[in-house]
Amino acid sequence: MRLSIINGSPRGNSGNTQKLLEHFISGFLATEGNTVEVLYSIKDRPDFTPEKELFLNAERLLIAFPLYVDAMPGTVKELFESFAPLKGKNPGLKLLFMIQCGFPETHHTRFVARYCEKLARRLECEPAGLICKGGCEGLSVQPPALVDKVFQRFYELGKAYGETGELDDRLLAKLAYPEHLTSEQLQQVIPVVNNFLWDDWMKRNNVLQKSFDKPYGADL
Ligand SMILES: Cc1cc2nc3c(=O)[nH]c(=O)nc-3n(C[C@H](O)[C@H](O)[C@H](O)COP(=O)(O)O)c2cc1C
Repeated sequence: MRLSIINGSPRGNSGNTQKLLEHFISGFLATEGNTVEVLYSIKDRPDFTPEKELFLNAERLLIAFPLYVDAMPGTVKELFESFAPLKGKNPGLKLLFMIQCGFPETHHTRFVARYCEKLARRLECEPAGLICKGGCEGLSVQPPALVDKVFQRFYELGKAYGETGELDDRLLAKLAYPEHLTSEQLQQVIPVVNNFLWDDWMKRNNVLQKSFDKPYGADL
């Protein structure tokens, strides 16, 4: 099986999208004869010539990107728009998407995921699945045991895909957990996020004491 991948992360091969893809790919390649090619679209804008060629010649194309401000990064939107003239030019193409985000609830990715499915239909391709995963902001700061579990699941998903050519719904559901957090869980998660992510950054920049500043006025 031949799988083509476009990594749409603005961080290219040093981002979280890449880390997750590496494990998916390694699982996919566990089946003898499978091959993978990967492009980093951030390097090819604004023309995206290699990505357009890939789109035209691929059998299976996985486009992977992070959620930025509740949608796709602007550079990924630019990539999608560049595909408009390719509508109907590769009707057999199985188009898949992988969307991962920082907040723990996978639900945040579902809106842009629906857009992606619609995009696949509009390009007259076969919508072939959506891999959605929340909680990825912490991949570089979470304990290895938690991160290893996520990586292992991406490996398993890639392996099953490499064997069957289909995304395994059971693995997708495991990966997407939790879809929502309860208010009790949120009360536990928010202080941890504040401590390990935002406060840490503020400390490094010597501005922690400004955490509660109101530069736009007290009423806003
Ligand atoms: C500019 C920017 C905007 C972001 N917006 C969101 C967001 O709206 N929701 C969310 O859950 N995560 C958001 N994140 C977090 C990223 O989705 C998360 O860190 C992701 O793993 C980054 O992947 P990358 O390293 O491949 O860019 C944002 C990150 C950045 C840099």
